[in-house]
Amino acid sequence: PIEETLVIVKPDGVARNLTGEILRRIEAKGYSLVDIRLVQADREILAKHYAEHEGKPFYEPLVEFMQSGPVVAMRVAGNRVIEGIRSLSGATDPTTAAPGTIRGDFGRDWGLRVQQNLIHGSDSPESAERELDLWFT
Ligand code: CMP
Repeated sequence: PIEETLVIVKPDGVARNLTGEILRRIEAKGYSLVDIRLVQADREILAKHYAEHEGKPFYEPLVEFMQSGPVVAMRVAGNRVIEGIRSLSGATDPTTAAPGTIRGDFGRDWGLRVQQNLIHGSDSPESAERELDLWFT
């Protein structure tokens, strides 16, 4: 089925000038860019975005990290795009993410309490709808 998902290039990806490379891979795979914005996220939007992680040990560092610079939010469409973006992204941990994936090729483990892993992609149709409503009102 044709789906839409939310992709976020995290502050580390924007700061390292990887936005174009990440979008290039998404487009090369055949997905379509529907909307895009550069955003300085605040605590309010991040608290909603990461509500399911509240209370976990990486929650506070994650919310701080996501405010450390601008992010690029994208609405991306395609057949099975939710699954596809997660496949292009690779595993959460950049050290074990497979080579050929965005995190596997570019992600670095900085030894911090939060994984600065370049990209976010919605994990289910329900998350995608909720997150797209949040970032693209
Ligand atoms: P993402 O899956 O986009 O959303 C949750 C984020 O929290 C995840 O990316 C990582 O940036 C971070 N994260 C998830 N699990 C861990 C973990 N075990 N240790 C550190 N950071 C994590």
